[in-house]
Amino acid sequence: MEEYVIEMNNIRKEFPGIVANDNITLQLKKGEIHALLGENGAGKSTLMNVLFGLYQPEEGEIKVKGQPVKITDPNVANRLGIGMVHQHFMLVHNFTVTENIILGSEPTKSGKINISDAAKKVDELSKQYGLSVDPYAKIEDISVGMQQRVEILKTLYRGAEILIFDEPTAVLTPQEIKELIQIMDRLVKEGKSIILITHKLKEIMEVCDRCTVIRKGKGIGTVNISETNPDHLAELMVGREVHFKVDKKEAVPKDVELEIKDLVVMDARNIPSVNGLNLSVKAGEILGIAGVDGNGQTELIEGITGLRKVKSGSIKINGKEVVNLSSRKITETGVGHIPQDRHKHGLVLDYTIGENMVLQTYYQKPFSKSGILNFNTIYEKAKQLIKEYDVRTPSEYTPARALSGGNQQKAIIAREVDRSPSLLIAAQPTRGLDVGAIEFIHSKLIEERDKGKAVLLVSFELDEIMNLSDRIAVIYEGKIVAVVDPKETNEQELGLLMAGGKRESEGVS
Ligand SMILES: Nc1ncnc2c1ncn2[C@@H]1O[C@H](COP(=O)(O)OP(=O)(O)OP(=O)(O)O)[C@@H](O)[C@H]1O
Ligand SMILES: [Mg+2]
Repeated sequence: MEEYVIEMNNIRKEFPGIVANDNITLQLKKGEIHALLGENGAGKSTLMNVLFGLYQPEEGEIKVKGQPVKITDPNVANRLGIGMVHQHFMLVHNFTVTENIILGSEPTKSGKINISDAAKKVDELSKQYGLSVDPYAKIEDISVGMQQRVEILKTLYRGAEILIFDEPTAVLTPQEIKELIQIMDRLVKEGKSIILITHKLKEIMEVCDRCTVIRKGKGIGTVNISETNPDHLAELMVGREVHFKVDKKEAVPKDVELEIKDLVVMDARNIPSVNGLNLSVKAGEILGIAGVDGNGQTELIEGITGLRKVKSGSIKINGKEVVNLSSRKITETGVGHIPQDRHKHGLVLDYTIGENMVLQTYYQKPFSKSGILNFNTIYEKAKQLIKEYDVRTPSEYTPARALSGGNQQKAIIAREVDRSPSLLIAAQPTRGLDVGAIEFIHSKLIEERDKGKAVLLVSFELDEIMNLSDRIAVIYEGKIVAVVDPKETNEQELGLLMAGGKRESEGVS
């Protein structure tokens, strides 16, 4: 009897200028959920990409059920029963769910795949594991949560016994996270084994059996979850104590910086998802928007920042009407934007980190003079921001694509905060960040507030909303239905308001 289904022993993987995995060992028991924890850039995705055959290690050995193996590419991994759901999904957007699931899997003897047979199998698998999807829907039309279920089904369709989940919960709403946890439970009950990467210590405590910690590419060790706690995990991972509470003084709000009146913004299906919304944010305060995903948050932000056309209503920034101005014009009015989707709106992945740091300002002084870019100044600036925000990258010349997910996020935040906009819009700003980085980013947002900037925060993490906000606006069906003082509310009441319930004590303010 072999105790481990996977053994990765003494793995080393180098990239130009960096040792991403330095002598790391991870052993997975059959039927367990095993957490892989480490700071942004610690080497988690790299280690899992090695297991999935995307990278070849320079040293170390991998055993599957006790047998030494060479995983030369993902097809070999699939054949060994290893499946992976990546940090950034890899689906073809104009293909259907079923087409994506069967894409690249082995054809039948006749060399063809029968789509309706495949759809049937997909349907069976989805019922067996509670992974509800619409087999004929196009990827571009379905939610992120469903896209993730498609990725999971894709691995199961190929017969995966060992599942690697790289930060699956970072992109999910609290409700979807609950569902995913149930799915993972069902998977291990059916005899599968799971490696789970997440920065959320609560989730590790809730669902995992053991946890392997890595720090700056080195293995720190493996602990039993029943014998540890979140503080200890955080300390193992960061190498110092982490404070989960945010320190902040009372806000000193000044004039209204952002004033929204009767705003209507349509969604992709031409249905008003922002539907007569009124909101104001003052200079010197953090206004947090709480709401269940899909109640107009995305369209609201895209409307303010000029990424989506506004149907009617008014948006004034510092007294100036900006409705339907171009994104560039709105940016120049003094708006910073940390977007929800870092790949779609945050970065140009093939540009260097330096170039990404001046995406909105490259045409201005001092980065440009009479139409000629001054690369020295651009890279000087990038170097300073990388240092200040602890963006872990080999250099400022590295393409954004080569950075770890969390470090890409830190780079965007650095750029947006550094421009010192009078209105900073932060959508899910700490998504995918480790606990240490979250602590730092929270203190930066408060610093901006204290400098007299207006901060509009949208987050699905109620903890984050409660800890950071000076006022909380609840969004429901495209309207602000309540504005509450975080000191006078709790998560329960917020949850109720977010579901369309009324506050007992007061009417809508
Ligand atoms: N393809 C690549 N080319 C060059 N460097 C890379 C590449 N992939 C990763 N790296 C580097 O290897 C290190 C580890 O990155 P990795 O993506 O494994 O981190 P991570 O632990 O998954 O972090 P996060 O929590 O932010 O996702 C980082 O310094 C990263 O910049
Ligand atoms: Mg990663």
